[in-house]
Amino acid sequence: MRVLAVSGSLRAGSHNTRLLHEAARLLPAGVELEHYDELKSVPPFDEDEEERPAAAVERLRAAVAAADAVLLATPEYNSSIPGQLKNALDWLSRPVATNVLRNKPVAVVGASTGAFGAVWAQAELRKVLAAIGARVVAAELAVPHADRRFGEDGRLADAELRAGLEDLVVELVEAAAERELRAVAA
Ligand SMILES: Cc1cc2nc3c(=O)[nH]c(=O)nc-3n(C[C@H](O)[C@H](O)[C@H](O)COP(=O)(O)O)c2cc1C
Repeated sequence: MRVLAVSGSLRAGSHNTRLLHEAARLLPAGVELEHYDELKSVPPFDEDEEERPAAAVERLRAAVAAADAVLLATPEYNSSIPGQLKNALDWLSRPVATNVLRNKPVAVVGASTGAFGAVWAQAELRKVLAAIGARVVAAELAVPHADRRFGEDGRLADAELRAGLEDLVVELVEAAAERELRAVAA
């Protein structure tokens, strides 16, 4: 089973990207996590380019299509989703009936340096994903004061947050396994 991890932050020292690396360490045996790292190269969404999207858009869609599940980690910018992440989701939402996120199990986590852990951005992201047709798992994880949560080794230092992240990835993997079983039965 393969999980595609997408960080909504473009910066090298991103706490959200770190959170995804921690998630990779907590995955059940036999599950691989692939980090999507081309978010910056996705062009602005343009309906006029839908017939012939840029190669970066095709690669993004292929990466999502090939994954059994998607794990998104979002920062919060001005109480909302970072623009480049929302832009990528707009590309992924088309074509509407057959978009690669439709029925795809997706989990959302978020880290911010503020006191609430990107909860507003996460709520908006979940809303957008539901509108696109993804199967958003119920588990949530907010990492507040993210600049103090990771040790020198890059690991999430807080045991409670680590346990919460582990529960979330297990729920995501279970949702993907259920979807696979249903597909085999159909
Ligand atoms: C443009 C901008 C807007 C921000 N707005 C918020 C905000 O609304 N709420 C919040 O908790 N943090 C906010 N922050 C702080 C981010 O949480 C912090 O920069 C965080 O580390 C970004 O995630 P990253 O480490 O994954 O890049 C903002 C940061 C920037 C650059």
